[in-house]
Amino acid sequence: MDDVFDPATRGLDRKFLEDVWRGLSAPQKTLPCEYLYDETGSNLFEQITELPEYYPTRTEIGILTNHAAEIAAALGPNIVLVEYGAGASTKTRILLDALTDPAGYIPIDVSEDFLLQTADQLRAEYPGLPVTPMVGNFMADLQLPSDVTGKAVGFFPGSTLGNLSDDEIHRFMRQARHLLGADGRFVLGIDLRKSPDILVPAYDDAAGVTADFNLNLLTRINRDLNANFDRAGFAHRALWNDSASRIEMHLLSLKDQSVEIAGRQFDFSEGETIHTENSRKFDLDQLRQHFTAAGWALELKWLDPSAYFAVLLLRAAD
Ligand code: TRP
Repeated sequence: MDDVFDPATRGLDRKFLEDVWRGLSAPQKTLPCEYLYDETGSNLFEQITELPEYYPTRTEIGILTNHAAEIAAALGPNIVLVEYGAGASTKTRILLDALTDPAGYIPIDVSEDFLLQTADQLRAEYPGLPVTPMVGNFMADLQLPSDVTGKAVGFFPGSTLGNLSDDEIHRFMRQARHLLGADGRFVLGIDLRKSPDILVPAYDDAAGVTADFNLNLLTRINRDLNANFDRAGFAHRALWNDSASRIEMHLLSLKDQSVEIAGRQFDFSEGETIHTENSRKFDLDQLRQHFTAAGWALELKWLDPSAYFAVLLLRAAD
């Protein structure tokens, strides 16, 4: 990309622009899913978690609530909870309420404003609990603050692990193993394989909130990268890829069309898609291999009665 001085790109977020240009130049066009979460996207995602079709959030909250005492007993006292990609932290509160004498809470998030706000709220709700936010991407090689005294326990709910590729899972689990240390534990929320009749509607709801969430990416690119996507020229598609065991989110082009993004033209034919996100649905045996390869052992697991979702407790191994 040698057009740094091109007036069409001046003042734009270079990384975002290059990611978008690169993704739309591939034979199967893609857009990186991290860009779904601007302010509008984050609000739409909060709405998704409350949809009748979107079972994961309420199922995971149910498991955490029903088994909070057992989880807390397995973890013991003096825990420093390290949350990856801390969102609205409803799930965090369930754990903090159940733990005996928690020694700290360390939320990690890329969105600084949101992170500091959450940290302030938790300080107010849990007086005396040291809350130490860390700004950063959870894939980065982070270090715990040196004054942490309790036992580090990672918390990664929401089956966000399922939005990562095999390579990314491996890197993330290794980084977490390094960060949390030789006595580290890890609490993970994992969405399990189930019938596409349940999966597909969870990612293509009747009210169209998920469609808005996906299409918002085009609106964001129009606004932030001087582009002219016609939102009405694309439709949200969620499909179940059985061999890859994942829901795929796409934006389907409804006609032959061209779009200009910061001075570059991209052509779409009718029926062509932009792949925007994967949500993998795991089986526990397959996951266990990932954990072992990254230095973790499965210690305990809790499922809902329908086995839709699992909360796993891992322990650092060699
Ligand atoms: N971690 C969520 C999941 O995989 C993310 C998600 C839910 C999502 N609905 C979505 C991502 C719709 C893109 C589109 O369930």
